[in-house]
Amino acid sequence: MIDTETRPERRAARTLIERRRAEASALLATDAARAALALHGTPLLLLDPERVRRQYRRLRDALPFVRFHYAVKALAHDAVIGALDDVGSGFDIATGEELDLLTRRGIAAARIIHTHPVKKPSEIVAALAAGVRTFVVDNEVELAKFSDAPADVSLLVRLAYRSPHAKSDLSSKFGVGPFEAARLVEQAKRRGLRIAGFSFHVGSQLDDPARFADAVSETLALMDDLERRLRVRFDTLDIGGGFPVAYDTPSATVEEVATRLRPILEPHAGRLDIIAEPGRVMVAEAMTLVTSVVGVAERGDGRWYYLDDGVYGSYSNVVAEDVHPLVFAEEELRDGPSNAASHRWATLGGPTCDSSDVIAREVLLPELAVGDLLVSPAMGAYTAVTATRFNGRALTPIAVMGRGLTTGEVTAVAASDRRTVSIV
Ligand SMILES: Cc1ncc(COP(=O)(O)O)c(C=O)c1O
Repeated sequence: MIDTETRPERRAARTLIERRRAEASALLATDAARAALALHGTPLLLLDPERVRRQYRRLRDALPFVRFHYAVKALAHDAVIGALDDVGSGFDIATGEELDLLTRRGIAAARIIHTHPVKKPSEIVAALAAGVRTFVVDNEVELAKFSDAPADVSLLVRLAYRSPHAKSDLSSKFGVGPFEAARLVEQAKRRGLRIAGFSFHVGSQLDDPARFADAVSETLALMDDLERRLRVRFDTLDIGGGFPVAYDTPSATVEEVATRLRPILEPHAGRLDIIAEPGRVMVAEAMTLVTSVVGVAERGDGRWYYLDDGVYGSYSNVVAEDVHPLVFAEEELRDGPSNAASHRWATLGGPTCDSSDVIAREVLLPELAVGDLLVSPAMGAYTAVTATRFNGRALTPIAVMGRGLTTGEVTAVAASDRRTVSIV
């Protein structure tokens, strides 16, 4: 039977995998990657800040009237902050530690927004002292924490939109519905606090631009309704993060999401300050993980390869987010996908002495031996930042490739992160 429905999807998936393979192959062939591997061995994360800059420009081109604030939590790394500082990005923080990372680099407070809906009082004090003026709230207790805040503080009320199809539906932990939102606006008014507008997060890795567009429309309608009913005026709309990344299957591109959002947002661009907080899409493709095989075993369920990084380390996204990173053997990068006949199905285990540390099952790979390299692309978001030191293992170092990595030019990048190694 001809499976007409899935054929184009399969073709698109194959195209994506081939593109990722070609990119990983080009990366591994660079002098910078070779030098980094020779120096540090594996596991090693290769970070290309130029790709972060490129992704920022892509978002700006797709939605030129939106001010983008990079969600630092996705990859809190000096080289990423530096790259985004260069191109004029704003920054979105959730903690005092993230604020410190930015202020150490001299990022002006005017470029920073604090969007954690529930903050430690001392962190609010520190952020205010540093000059941050935009914060998110979603409950009365949080609102009260701003009672003595300076008059120029802008508060955004976080709304909740259910996103059961997102990898990470953020609406159960944070956010309010329209009724509670109205109450918070009234309470703020009584306290003399300024609610500048609303924020939401449609859910991380939500591959559904229509749902994103609905959330924008619903928020705009709510703002309109509250302005009329409560006689207030809003000036800010924060559309959050959530832009998806194509890991092992294609997902909506930045441009496709923008095509849905643009006609809804653009008419309001003059009246509202429209901001966004993308994290994942900004950094995922900028970092690549290189591991090596440390063990091979034949078990009841077939071949197992044990790698020197796993789900308690850089592959933390597998468990925390149900992401399925692609894994290429070095041989496939060199010889291309044509050798698939000699491949066999395998399970990939991580390095800890723990049976949950399984990176992937049923991965088609060539015959591998101890010491062989494996490469996972798109490992920049929610990987290194969520890694643990379980079993006493060191965190995987991040090698920062200088500007022009893809053209083979290698330069040094200053590093303050203790895991960072610079390639000179
Ligand atoms: C408040 C807030 N803003 C932005 C982000 C970044 O979202 P994403 O990485 O999906 O773009 C997150 C992610 O959890 C978040 O909680």
